[in-house]
Amino acid sequence: MNLKKSEVSWKSPSNIALIKYWGKYDNQIPMNPSISFTLEKCSTITSVKFEKSNEFSYNFFFENKIKPEFIPKLDVFFSRTNEYLPSLSKLKLTINSSNSFPHSSGIASSASAFSSLALCLIEIESMFSDLIDNENFLEKASLISRLGSGSASRSVYGPLSCWGETELYDQSSDQYAIPIKMSNDEFPVFCDTILIVDSGAKKVSSTIGHKLMDDHIFKKERISQSHLNFSKLKKSIDSNDLDSFIEVVENEALTLHALMMTSNPNFILFKPNTINIIDLIVKFREETGTKVCFTLDAGANVHLLYPKNSFEKVQEFIKKSLAQFCHDGEYINDQIGLGPQKN
Ligand code: DP6
Repeated sequence: MNLKKSEVSWKSPSNIALIKYWGKYDNQIPMNPSISFTLEKCSTITSVKFEKSNEFSYNFFFENKIKPEFIPKLDVFFSRTNEYLPSLSKLKLTINSSNSFPHSSGIASSASAFSSLALCLIEIESMFSDLIDNENFLEKASLISRLGSGSASRSVYGPLSCWGETELYDQSSDQYAIPIKMSNDEFPVFCDTILIVDSGAKKVSSTIGHKLMDDHIFKKERISQSHLNFSKLKKSIDSNDLDSFIEVVENEALTLHALMMTSNPNFILFKPNTINIIDLIVKFREETGTKVCFTLDAGANVHLLYPKNSFEKVQEFIKKSLAQFCHDGEYINDQIGLGPQKN
């Protein structure tokens, strides 16, 4: 094949789960379905240069610097992807990624990192093979993203994305995420302000946390709770019931951390300031009636979710009451986005 182009580039966002993925089977198959809001600003841009070669090889740069610490995870990823991306076996890749958010923010970037890389790889594969076309491009990109990091499978679609089989959506799959349309036009556009409580690396990785679900005493209960919460969340979105939306989202966040605290061995990822912030968010909601809620991922930072029409009021609250509990007063204002963009 005579290729006109030998470099591809994609920008892909991070996402914040409303129903949490926690626990997985072999080959990145989730124990339960999850659904997330796709973010807009927190994203990774990845570009991949490729040239013909006798065998597959890759070099990886993060912001133009070699990063040996990323290689083990990338090696596992490529060992999982080769059956889906046969054309790569005769290519040498040079991968360069950069994040839109600060390194020091402690934001998990595996979702944006792996989805942007997967989109590049699927575009390259599509240049060599008929297996990928416009119809299945995003589905395949989501599947490849999943093989790098489960939550990355959801970043391929916005504003809502569901990964894992659920009876609520016929098309849902454990292999890849599907886009979820808001059936209710009234449901507000949400903002997500990420309150940076801890900017350091997590003391227990998500990979280890997932593993601890294998023999967790609440494994069965968690799987049924996730399905129940999913159906409550869907109902609340479909009927524009923000109070019930808030109840489910906060229940999922606290369940995630309760599962960590009841794992064997146990671990705690939130910090005193995580709790200080959560307390103030709940108090602010009770006092002002503003439809704010918190969620957490596998770390100490708090995601503050609120409808866009409360932006001014909530920003005032953040500056006055919450910023003091953030590391160096740092927080990132993001909002729900529509998914990846090709560069
Ligand atoms: C708590 O997707 O980071 O953020 O598949 O091992 O890469 P791996 O895990 P990862 O786990 C994310 C867990 C979570 C919840 C979620 O995003 O659904």
